[in-house]
Amino acid sequence: MSLNQQIERWLASRKKSFQSTNRPFTTLAYAQAWDGSITTCRGQAVALSCSESGQLTHQLRSLHDGILVGIETVLSDDPQLTVREWTGKNPQPIILDSRLRMPPDSKLHDHPDKKCWLLTLEQGDGSESLKSLNHEIIRIRGHGHDFVPLLPALSLLREKGIESLMVEGGAKVITEFLRLGLADAIVMTMTPKLIGGYKAVGDIDIEDISVAPLISPINFEKLGDDLIVWGDLNYSESVK
Ligand SMILES: NC(=O)c1ccc[n+]([C@@H]2O[C@H](COP(=O)([O-])OP(=O)(O)OC[C@H]3O[C@@H](n4cnc5c(N)ncnc54)[C@H](OP(=O)(O)O)[C@@H]3O)[C@@H](O)[C@H]2O)c1
Repeated sequence: MSLNQQIERWLASRKKSFQSTNRPFTTLAYAQAWDGSITTCRGQAVALSCSESGQLTHQLRSLHDGILVGIETVLSDDPQLTVREWTGKNPQPIILDSRLRMPPDSKLHDHPDKKCWLLTLEQGDGSESLKSLNHEIIRIRGHGHDFVPLLPALSLLREKGIESLMVEGGAKVITEFLRLGLADAIVMTMTPKLIGGYKAVGDIDIEDISVAPLISPINFEKLGDDLIVWGDLNYSESVK
């Protein structure tokens, strides 16, 4: 069985056995160098993965109902978040954007079949320049948060029909999902370079290594020049 088939089967079984009805089944999927860097420096768009792993990313997109990134990734990479290098449906694009900094000329406004969802704070400013564009602004009650709070945001996504969510980054978003124990699965593309740049995972409030999120069972296989590592994310009860 090819790597692509293995990952598709594994994801299907994980989604099927997912119990919660309060939030989507969530997969973290991103590319990193062997030292954990996702880019050379924050705000820099860098293509890390080889063409085969790039295809796998598009396959993963097609296997989820929604795809989520932080606004900093939109500002630096201007992604389309569509399925172009695989056959399948486009996931719903979703951006965490507390202060509505989405650029009016973002490629996401030209999405072929979906209005991008901008998750923002209820009390946040509504940018006039964004009003007429091809997106839906969804306001989440912040309760004193500086960021869009993830639990109510995920619960709302589930209510809106998103049963599976792929989180592509960047680091602040990956870190927050791990800190709160809200990612269920991970697919990492590890590119065999050491670049000493901006790391995928920041402070997730772990003081004791025994309660760190664990990838188990872990799977790995070479794909093109890269190593793909995937598995379930397990948290100690104290994290959840
Ligand atoms: N290698 C890869 O696979 C990959 C993938 C994606 C991105 N990247 C790289 O990662 C870099 C961007 O990452 P980043 O860490 O700077 O930013 P990010 O994670 O893309 O976005 C973070 C921003 O999202 C907003 N946000 C709203 N609610 C949030 C919440 N609950 N948790 C976290 N963020 C929330 C915040 O801005 P507001 O306060 O304005 O809302 C926050 O500053 C870029 O250089 C990009 O190229 C690499």
